Amino acid sequence: MTKILLPNDDALEMACDILKNDGLTAIPTETVYGLAANAFSEKAVRKIFEVKNRPPDNPLITHISNMDMLGLLARRIPHIALVLAERFWPGPLTLILPKSKKVPQGTTADLDSVAVRFPCNEIAVKLIEKCAFPLAAPSANLSGSPSPTKAAHVYDDLKGKIPLIIDGGDCLHGVESTVVLPLEGERISILRPGAITQEELSAHAIITNGEFSSNEKPISPGQKYKHYSPNAKVFLVVTDDSQKFKAYCHREYQSGDLILTYGGTPVEQARNLFSKLRECDTAGAKRVFVHSPEKHGIGLAVFNRLQKAAEKTVYLE
Ligand code: TXA
Ligand code: MG
Repeated sequence: MTKILLPNDDALEMACDILKNDGLTAIPTETVYGLAANAFSEKAVRKIFEVKNRPPDNPLITHISNMDMLGLLARRIPHIALVLAERFWPGPLTLILPKSKKVPQGTTADLDSVAVRFPCNEIAVKLIEKCAFPLAAPSANLSGSPSPTKAAHVYDDLKGKIPLIIDGGDCLHGVESTVVLPLEGERISILRPGAITQEELSAHAIITNGEFSSNEKPISPGQKYKHYSPNAKVFLVVTDDSQKFKAYCHREYQSGDLILTYGGTPVEQARNLFSKLRECDTAGAKRVFVHSPEKHGIGLAVFNRLQKAAEKTVYLE
């Protein structure tokens, strides 16, 4: 029912065919796998919400392969947005812009803004170019579960529900794009930390932070939901001291618990995190202890995902 194909011309042709007929295809990007549909088709994007079991008020990111598509999606592009697009596109940066009339309400979950990103994954770009319309694509997981960084993760979550997965191998970054809201002048707000770091952005814009925690009416609706969780209960243990982390695990350990190892450097941690969270379930773990990553660079995105995945965040003195 669900085919997994390597990204050759035939596979892209088939994907394009499906997408032109309002169907869904899972595609690789440099961040995580996306569940793609024609962003201009209300009928197509509705299917994304159904298949993922996605809350209807959580808008989608649209993916473009050239700057003309940006003009079709946004009715106005603030100067700072152009500056950032120039510097970081193609790449893992998502810009929130005033939406054009051409974008159906389903794509933006009734908001007056649209999220746009120009990915740098060659397969994604080739497919969007071939379709000649932007692709709306959230992460290709079931809502609430860890984002997919391999084709097999998509298969585990969505088998039987979608006709095609394009297998582009492991995703380069492993965490999602950074979602940025342009404000007045040079000011921006980071709505979701991601693969483009705060440090990189601050060289080009003034960051007025930054509501990416919970609040009553978040500007970025996706940030209010529990996310990225395996079935095992995640305990995020925050401390700079790895000895203290070890002592905590030693003290709390019960049979069925697992201590997550997910890489030495922040870049490795980002690349491995979601895959390792999925492996906790394969291993049948009941509880997982995770040592907090560094809270800067891409580590900030890793920390954000872990906080959302966690049943409990424990701060050690
Ligand atoms: O790297 C990524 O961004 C991946 C790949 C597939 O491109 N996509 C992804 O999509 O992470 P998703 O649906 O898992 O997350 C989209 C985030 C959500 O937090 C959503 O609320 C926010 O972007 N978002 C989308 N449209 C928005 C809008 N108009 N205003 C504010 N936030 C928006
Ligand atoms: Mg997601």
